[in-house]
Amino acid sequence: MSAAIGTGPSSASPARSVPVIAIDGPSASGKGTVAERVARRLGFHYLDSGAIYRAAALAAQQAGVASDDVAGLTAIATALPLVCSGGRILLGGTDVSEAIRSEPISAAASAVAAFGPVRAALLERQRAFRQPPGLVADGRDMGSVVFPDALLRVFLTASARVRATRRHKQLMEKGLPANLDLILQDLVTRDDRDSRRAVAPLQAGAPDTVLDSDAMTIDEVVDEVLERYRRAVAI
Ligand code: DC
Repeated sequence: MSAAIGTGPSSASPARSVPVIAIDGPSASGKGTVAERVARRLGFHYLDSGAIYRAAALAAQQAGVASDDVAGLTAIATALPLVCSGGRILLGGTDVSEAIRSEPISAAASAVAAFGPVRAALLERQRAFRQPPGLVADGRDMGSVVFPDALLRVFLTASARVRATRRHKQLMEKGLPANLDLILQDLVTRDDRDSRRAVAPLQAGAPDTVLDSDAMTIDEVVDEVLERYRRAVAI
């Protein structure tokens, strides 16, 4: 199973009987870590949908496509030469696993993701990850748009300050430059755009289990998701 994006094949018809756990939430809410751990515990595939938007943003930047050129961005998304291999993300054969995590690409991915045609172009690519025995998918619209029939929908959140502090710590640990106030500002801007956009905005829906990771450890969140999944399967 890939740490970054999952093991789903690049093309396959989605099997609707395959169970999906959808984990949506704002940036740095811990959803990637939780989704990956839940997938590992269940032996399920894992989809990091944000990595696909990030790769599209990077590809657009490399091709010199402007951030407001919707037709150009959609063409890039449609033909995205994305491959997941051994836990790495390859774009046109080049390993971009680290490059897509930079702050400029985070902002660019959020901007690219606001365009409906770009999202539509990436939809089937994400659904192809739905393979037996199951899938845990994290993002912004996993439960609302990509897998609306998910067996369990979780909305994982945390306060902006806690999320910014976590991101700051991660960057410091990697020896990268980090300014807490700037990180907080970027997070708030990005969440605002991801939540207010017209297409597939980030928001908790009625059937979602809302978990606040301010008040819980990652292990507690993982256990709670697994418990809720077992209850959903038993119904
Ligand atoms: O989860 P992430 O921070 O890696 O996502 C990067 C950006 O991609 C995020 O700001 C919004 C966008 N995104 C999205 O619109 N829908 C998704 N399912 C996943 C990510």
